[in-house]
Amino acid sequence: MTLKSITANQLSFVPNQDFVNQANINLQKFNELNKKAQDNYELYWAELAREKIDWHKPFNSVLNQKKAPFFTWFEDGQLSISYNCLDRHVKNNPNKIALIFESDNGQTIKVTYKELLSKVSQFANALKAINVKKGDRVILYLPHSIEAIVAMHASARIGAIHSTVFGGFSSKALADRILDANANVLITADGQHRGGKAMSLKTEVDAAIELLGDKNPIKHVIVDKRINDGKCNFVALRDIWWDDFIANKPTECTPEFMNSEDPLFILYTSGSTGTPKGVQHSIGGYLLGGILSMEWVFDYKDNDIYWCTADVGWITGHTYVCYGPLAVGATQIIFEGVPSYPTYSRFWEIIEKNKVTTFYTAPTAIRALIKAGADLPKNHNLSSLRLLGSVGEPINPEAWKWFYEVVGGSRCPIVDTWWQTETGSNMLSPLPGVQPLKPGSCVAALPGIMAAIIDESGNILDKNNTGYLVITKPFPSQLRTIWNNPDRFISSYFPEEIGHGKYYVAGDSAYLDNDGYFWILGRIDDVLNVSGHRLSTMEIESCLASHPKVAEAAVVGRPHEIKGESVFAFVVTKGGVRPTGEQANSLEKELRDWVGKQIGPIAKPDEIRFGDNLPKTRSGKIMRRLLRSIAKGEEIIQDVSTLENPSILEHLKNKI
Ligand code: WTA
Repeated sequence: MTLKSITANQLSFVPNQDFVNQANINLQKFNELNKKAQDNYELYWAELAREKIDWHKPFNSVLNQKKAPFFTWFEDGQLSISYNCLDRHVKNNPNKIALIFESDNGQTIKVTYKELLSKVSQFANALKAINVKKGDRVILYLPHSIEAIVAMHASARIGAIHSTVFGGFSSKALADRILDANANVLITADGQHRGGKAMSLKTEVDAAIELLGDKNPIKHVIVDKRINDGKCNFVALRDIWWDDFIANKPTECTPEFMNSEDPLFILYTSGSTGTPKGVQHSIGGYLLGGILSMEWVFDYKDNDIYWCTADVGWITGHTYVCYGPLAVGATQIIFEGVPSYPTYSRFWEIIEKNKVTTFYTAPTAIRALIKAGADLPKNHNLSSLRLLGSVGEPINPEAWKWFYEVVGGSRCPIVDTWWQTETGSNMLSPLPGVQPLKPGSCVAALPGIMAAIIDESGNILDKNNTGYLVITKPFPSQLRTIWNNPDRFISSYFPEEIGHGKYYVAGDSAYLDNDGYFWILGRIDDVLNVSGHRLSTMEIESCLASHPKVAEAAVVGRPHEIKGESVFAFVVTKGGVRPTGEQANSLEKELRDWVGKQIGPIAKPDEIRFGDNLPKTRSGKIMRRLLRSIAKGEEIIQDVSTLENPSILEHLKNKI
């Protein structure tokens, strides 16, 4: 999103009256909530936490700032998130459908709340039987599935800390996470179905454990039989099939009541250095953020059929698939496949078939669907839809308008939700019955979230300015720390350099327009956003540099029509001889595969350019802004006088 495209799109979409009349939050309630939060911040949160969560032991302490920025919320309260997501609904409405699983090949499986509770309890009992206890870490490496939800809830039910690793990550990335979390148990599947193909997952697990060698902490690997191709390798005493693991285990399990501040999960995400950060969330505050946003942003109603397309391996799949929807008792779709299989109508078929009311997806998917078949939604009855959502990156106004008109029939508000792995739940978003929408803007902070933009010295900026996006007050769903690395928590989110450590610094820059609407402009650090996934340029650089033929590498982002941004790498080979022609093509392929293997296919560079050297200042710093211009194919108009070796620019500009 550029300032130019913003000013060109000031058109407002006023919420339609029918929607406003039934909305959970209208303008009056919105103003009341904001006033309450302004007048007495702690009381505001305490009342919401008491109203929305079933506490096993009520809390007295609301926000504790003594160890700032390690804030705590509701710390003397006790609860079970599993109880809040399952048992309390089973009491009222046991036969309500919780999950509608749409498999890659079109098979549908429905699971009621009662059935889900039994599955979770049985799996929890099986985990207990292998001695998994409160506080132990459990790694999940599973496809988007009922089993993934069961395993996450089962861990939570007994107080274990889960860390879900996206199934698209490589064995090396999995190994790093196993080691950092020091987990003894890993839950996986033999493989996964996507786009009509069966792919192995277990081979990655075996490779990860092999890579860890003597350092491997994993003692048990539980394997869901998903593709059943007869090829799954089993290690005696370590590996067990899911069905054998739960066999004969009781289907009732009393939940472990936890302290509100106990860790719920660790989710690794990319930062500006080479190693991923283990973002650690707590229980009570995280749950509250999930529930409030389901009710306020997604305007959740009992008869909704809700569908968030995110994979459970990402934060959106945690908050808006695994926990938030279940906490409010929703019926939701879990889709195993991809939007293009068997045809680009798959999303529209699923919406029509299940009468989906609420559809939450990512701009990259929207752009791909426009390109593949902008007219396809018209062949389907999408009249059940009443609300649309977008997440992960700025949505360009053209994609917004198509989503609004063609998918939503110009009837459904779009909630453009800005948030992060670290914030746990939506932070900035329109409330659909409250503010007029502007395509491409995520509008305003949710009531109680104190968002602002600041300059370098930490001054809060007024409207019509661009600055660093910050949250000025602690909020319940924010991360508590970085697993094993509290110093990195402080330096990443409460840095001295920006805002003097006083505010939560999101790492994004934003523009606040004249109406007080927020427009996210992009990251301020070396993090790329490729198809809504966060990737660290440093991580890809160090991966490339670890290849035996590579001396040095620099990675930048290049704007991409569908992915938003793509990975573009500049590489200097060892020995200093720049490969050309066929040699360059084959090395490019080798390096792309290398990155795919070391990190995962999502991190593969789209293009690699080889040079004798990289453009550096005389003090040896790589001039990234030049590399960004080259990647974009722009004319270099910057001053290159500080460049030590200007001639190499010519090499890098040309693909050979
Ligand atoms: C970006 C995903 C613009 C942003 C939930 C943020 C967005 C990063 C939006 C977090 C949005 C997320 N508009 N940009 N609606 N939502 N982002 O941790 O740069 O995977 O910092 O969490 O995605 O990515 P993460």
